Amino acid sequence: MDLYIDTANLDEIKQANDLGVLDGVTTNPSLIAKEDVEFHAHMQAICKIVKGPVSAEVISTDTDGMLREGRELAKIADNIVIKLPCIVDGVRACKTLSDEGIRTNLTLCFQPVQALIVAKAGAFIVSPFIGRIDDIGEDGMNLIAQIRQIYDNYGYTTKILAASIRGTKHVVDAAILGADIATVPFNVIAKMLKHPLTDNGLKAFLEAWNKQ
Ligand code: G3P
Repeated sequence: MDLYIDTANLDEIKQANDLGVLDGVTTNPSLIAKEDVEFHAHMQAICKIVKGPVSAEVISTDTDGMLREGRELAKIADNIVIKLPCIVDGVRACKTLSDEGIRTNLTLCFQPVQALIVAKAGAFIVSPFIGRIDDIGEDGMNLIAQIRQIYDNYGYTTKILAASIRGTKHVVDAAILGADIATVPFNVIAKMLKHPLTDNGLKAFLEAWNKQ
């Protein structure tokens, strides 16, 4: 499973990248707004740190605007992936950009038929939002299972990216169900490497060693 970080914060991206296991980055307009930066220059800075796919989201809601923004963003670096919403205009833009060889990440996916349509439009990635589905009392992980089954039935190669991850259990469950990628906030990446029994065990080993 590929591990992406879901942030636009350069310090968090650097720290996660230093682990040596980071495969990519996802951003969205809310995450960029938090950083108070110039969008294109900031995406360029992220692409200098991480060589894997870096998702940059358009803010237009019409196909022409998405294409204009997407083509400009794609010039920033070879590893930029254009993030488009799973709406009619987004699907049209996805098809055109995919045909031009520009990779896309279709975001805000909340039902399996959206994933089916964007795969047909040539999406490189689809992003089902697990946490936001759980937030309304439904089972986000079921969406991952349904998309996996549909893609496997027909051999679609669009990558399933588990997004809107709230904790380590989401990562484990998405991995068990066969999501290709999990995009994880920095605080969850930190928790993935933390267990009290690991810390206690290490402490006990070192105490025993030092008593010799
Ligand atoms: O970047 C998309 C997604 O991961 C957003 O997550 O926490 O805002 O639901 P969240």
